[in-house]
This record gives sequence, C-alpha cells and structure tokens, in this order.
Amino acid sequence: MRTIFLSIFVILVFTSCDNTQGKVEKVAEKVNIHPLENSWEFAVPNQMPPEGLTSLSAEQCGACHQDHYKEWKMSTHAHAWTDLQFQAELKKESSPFMCINCHVPLQNQQEYIIEGLIDGDIYQPVKTKNPKFDKALQHEGITCAACHVRNNTIIGPTGTDKAPHKTVKDTAHLSENLCISCHNAVAVITPTLACSFETGDEWKAGPFYGKKNCKSCHMEEMHRAIVPGYEPRLSHFHGFPGSGIPKFDTVETNVLNGLEISPSVLPKSIKISNAINYKLKVKNEHAGHRVPTGDPERFFIISFTVLNMKGDTLNVKTERIGEHWEWHPLVKKVSDNNLMPGEERIYDFSYKAEKKELLKVIVKVEKHRLSQKNADYNKLGSAYPLFITIFDKEYLVRVL
Ligand code: HEC
Ligand code: HEC
Ligand code: HEC
Ligand code: HEC
Ligand code: HEC
Repeated sequence: MRTIFLSIFVILVFTSCDNTQGKVEKVAEKVNIHPLENSWEFAVPNQMPPEGLTSLSAEQCGACHQDHYKEWKMSTHAHAWTDLQFQAELKKESSPFMCINCHVPLQNQQEYIIEGLIDGDIYQPVKTKNPKFDKALQHEGITCAACHVRNNTIIGPTGTDKAPHKTVKDTAHLSENLCISCHNAVAVITPTLACSFETGDEWKAGPFYGKKNCKSCHMEEMHRAIVPGYEPRLSHFHGFPGSGIPKFDTVETNVLNGLEISPSVLPKSIKISNAINYKLKVKNEHAGHRVPTGDPERFFIISFTVLNMKGDTLNVKTERIGEHWEWHPLVKKVSDNNLMPGEERIYDFSYKAEKKELLKVIVKVEKHRLSQKNADYNKLGSAYPLFITIFDKEYLVRVL
C-alpha cells in the first residue's frame, strides 16, 4: 500500500473534548499526520439541500417521490445505520473510524470530520466536530441523498427540467460504479481486521459482465410516474432486493433467489437391503456474482434428516456453503466454497435403514445472515432474524 508521509507541526488544543470528562487538556507536540488515502476512508463532503428543497432527508424526498420512498424504507440500505449488528460492532474498540463511511456515507450524517491519522494509525484519527451534523439524517443510513446528491445538486438519469429542485444528468455516477464503491472493498486493515466484500470483482470476472449489471438485477425497470400527477416515465424499483433475510418481522425485504435447486426423486418404498439415496443439485443460476457474496458471515445450510414415525431423529447430515475465517492471532480466510456464477454442485445423501418401518425424510436449504454464535456474542436478541428457509421438502419412505 502506498503511504504518503506528511510531517506537520501541529498544536492540538482540546478545549471541550468528549473523552476528557470536562478536563481542559492542552497537548502541544510534534505529531505526524497522515492524510487519508483509501476511498472508504472518506465521507462525501457536507452537502447543502439542493436549490428548491429545504432538507436532504429521505422523508422530504418521499413527500413527492412516494413510491421510491416506500420501497427504499423497506430496503436494507435504509437500515444500514440502525441495524443491531452494525451498532453492536461499531461500539467495539476494535472498530475504526471508517466503519461508518459506507453505512452513513454523507459527511452531514457524521458527527466528526476526520482530517488525517496521527502516525498513520487508524485508531488515532484527527477529528473536529462537524457543524452540519444531522442526527435524523444519520438514522436514514444509505439515504436518497447518499446516492443522489453531489455538489448540492440532485443527480438524475435525465437532468429533467420538470423537477422543482436543481437537477443534473450524470449517468456515469448512477452506474454500477456507485454500487461497487461500497460493495467491493478488499483490505487487511489491522492484523485482526479485514474488509472482504468482493461483489464487484466477482461480477467483473463472471458471465454477466457486459450483459447485466447490479442495477439490471437489483433495480428492476418499470414505467411509472415518479411523482403523482406527472407523466409515466422510465423508473426503477428502489427496494434493492437481495438475500431476502429480513431485518425484523416488520421489515420484509424482497427476496432474490440466486440458486436453482433440483431434488432427485425418492421412491415411496425401498428394500431394507438398499440404501436411501438422495441427490440435491444446487446451481447458482441467477446471481451475477458468487452465492453467497459480500459479507463473509453469510452462509447456506443444506440438511438431510431421517426420522421415524415416533419423531426420533435417526440420521442428520448437513453441508455448508460459505466462507470460514480465523480472526486470531492473524486474520485469514480458512476456506471458501461459495458458488461461482453458473456453477452447479451435487450434494449426495445416503441412509441405510436398520429396521422395516415407515421413515420421514426432510430436506431443507436455509440462507443465513450470520451464525447463532455471532448473534449471541453481539447480543442481538431473539427477535433479530438470522435465516430464512428457501427449500423445504418432506418425503415418506417405507422400508420393506
Ligand atoms: C467499503 C464500504 C464498507 C465499509 C468501510 C464498511 N462496511 Fe459494513 N457493509 C458494507 C456492505 C456493502 C455491506 C453489505 C454486504 C452484503 O450484504 O453483501 C456491509 C454489511 C455490514 C454488516 C452486516 C449487516 C447485516 O445486515 O448483516 C455489518 C455488521 C457491518 N457491515 C459492519 C461494519 C463494520 C464494523 C465496519 C468497520 C470495520 C464496516 N462495516 C465497514 C460496506 C462497508
Ligand atoms: C416538491 C416535490 C419534490 C421533492 C421534495 C423532491 N423531488 Fe425529485 N423530482 C420532483 C419532480 C416533479 C421531478 C420530475 C418528474 C418527472 O420527470 O416526471 C423530480 C425528479 C427527480 C429525479 C429524476 C431526475 C432526472 O434526471 O430525471 C430524481 C433522481 C429526484 N427527483 C430525486 C429527488 C431526491 C433525492 C429528493 C430528496 C432529496 C427529491 N427528489 C425531492 C419533485 C420532487
Ligand atoms: C454508500 C454505500 C453503498 C452504496 C452506494 C450501495 N450500497 Fe448496497 N448496501 C450497502 C450496505 C452497507 C448494505 C448493508 C446494510 C445492512 O445490512 O445493514 C447494503 C445492502 C445491499 C443489498 C442487500 C443485501 C441483503 O441481502 O440484505 C443489496 C441487494 C444492495 N446493497 C445492492 C446495491 C446496489 C444494486 C447498489 C447500486 C445501485 C448499491 N447497493 C449501492 C452499501 C451501499
Ligand atoms: C444477473 C443478476 C445479478 C447481477 C448482475 C448482480 N446481482 Fe447481486 N444478487 C443477485 C441475486 C439473484 C441475489 C440473491 C442471491 C441469493 O441469496 O440467493 C443477489 C444478491 C446480492 C447481495 C446480497 C448478498 C448476501 O448474501 O447478503 C448483494 C449485496 C448484491 N447482490 C449486490 C450486487 C452488486 C453490488 C452487483 C453489481 C456489482 C450485483 N449484485 C450484480 C443477482 C444479481
Ligand atoms: C443506493 C443508491 C440509491 C439510493 C439509496 C436511492 N437511489 Fe434513486 N436511483 C439510483 C440509481 C442508480 C438510479 C438511476 C437508475 C437509472 O436510470 O439507471 C436512481 C433513479 C432514481 C429516480 C429516477 C427515476 C427512476 O426510478 O429511475 C428517482 C426519482 C429516484 N431515484 C429517487 C430516489 C429517492 C426519492 C430515494 C430515497 C427514497 C432514492 N432514489 C434512493 C440509486 C439510488
């Protein structure tokens, strides 16, 4: 990594610093302030409401763009700040200042302006209070303005003159590059902290590159009035559907399924001398990147369970699709069997019955946001949804 080394003589005067508990502390020393260098170390500079508007808030946009607002509200983007796991992790001392830059990307959403790093140490940012900090806007996470406002102007796909707000056309900004600016970050930040979101790179290396991009799959095209009373025009669904694992019971995100799951048939009866054999074909048919992608905590569990009629479990076999990481003493990826775009895999299950009886075979595929262990560790509570079931089949097999 390139390091620009700047040596400045700085006098830091903390007058009402938060962490000095009222003490007035004066520090005058020679410190080396490194400038920020990686894209994710920066917030989008403070913005003013575009001419014609009085606020940057999604709520205000929603007064006119009612459908966009309703859809966005249900998206995980709208929960990127309030998410319980994010908040739990942010509070940890090991979380550096830049954790918030993709979750609340506008400077207006951040309490402090970061001007550099003392000795290049990410845990020693040089901060000043942001006079334009807006707490309500922070709550909106990846709000409309995070994607649509730059240079105090609304960025749109046409630069229409029908809007009551200052608008410019910038299709390069509103392209997949915007998505990739947050959905692709690969860096080992400290020996025990790594960023590993490779959705952009996975897409670029895959078969959909040049054919379908992030928007084609995650922002479906439609024709509608974008403000009630206006002529219908080209528009895009703003619910940003993805894994479909909801944040809470009340927040139904829209599911996209990447996997095509094809089960083999099971005979209704089988001789005791034969094993029950079952194959599940799992293919990443619909995702433009690997499945799962992004957050390395995501995984799928495929389970094959055999029960007798009393309900006793006679056999369980599970398979996992996902990554395994080790965080101590050094962060490293231990294994990874995510499915590449287009890749198919066959999972084989076999059970040899010991008795002549009626058996129940249950096959399930679940999509998990994070493990129970990590959820407990972060004290997320029992209401936080951890997974959804995307395939669930029951078979009765008589052993003769
Ligand atoms: C480069 C942008 C970026 C930075 C910097 C970043 N994140 Fe994220 N974060 C993301 C994206 C994108 C996702 C969603 C990934 C997905 O679902 O595939 C995410 C998801 C998460 C989630 C999972 C939420 C859920 O719904 O399961 C947590 C927790 C989280 N980030 C915490 C952090 C912490 C802590 C830091 C600082 C160490 C951090 N993030 C820094 C982009 C970023
Ligand atoms: C007072 C009503 C009103 C408010 C508030 C409002 N808009 Fe608009 N907006 C409009 C109208 C009207 C249009 C043009 C309608 C058309 O083209 O059919 C428009 C157009 C747009 C476009 C498309 C521009 C293009 O290039 O085609 C975008 C993007 C947009 N608004 C975003 C926002 C965002 C983000 C906010 C909040 C920060 C917001 N608007 C607030 C009324 C509003
Ligand atoms: C400012 C950073 C940022 C930008 C820009 C951004 N995202 Fe995200 N995105 C995130 C974060 C952070 C999350 C995770 C939020 C959470 O889970 O709390 C996320 C979540 C998602 C999810 C939902 C994942 C799931 O399964 O729940 C999808 C899909 C998604 N983004 C697609 C897109 C697309 C498409 C674009 C471009 C139009 C885009 N994102 C632009 C940061 C960003
Ligand atoms: C060909 C369609 C397609 C393209 C192109 C595509 N995606 Fe996806 N994406 C999907 C599908 C389908 C899923 C759901 C996968 C699943 O969970 O089964 C998904 C899931 C996701 C998720 C949720 C990941 C998780 O496990 O939580 C994120 C985030 C995401 N996509 C971001 C992006 C970004 C960013 C791009 C562009 C670089 C992109 N996608 C391009 C179809 C696509
Ligand atoms: C994660 C980024 C992102 C967020 C958040 C976001 N948008 Fe968009 N929006 C886009 C992109 C990208 C397009 C352009 C799609 C195209 O034309 O290629 C767009 C297009 C639009 C348009 C033009 C018509 C259309 O539907 O294509 C309007 C209006 C709009 N957005 C309003 C909003 C409002 C209001 C919010 C908040 C409630 C919002 N957007 C949140 C990325 C975002």
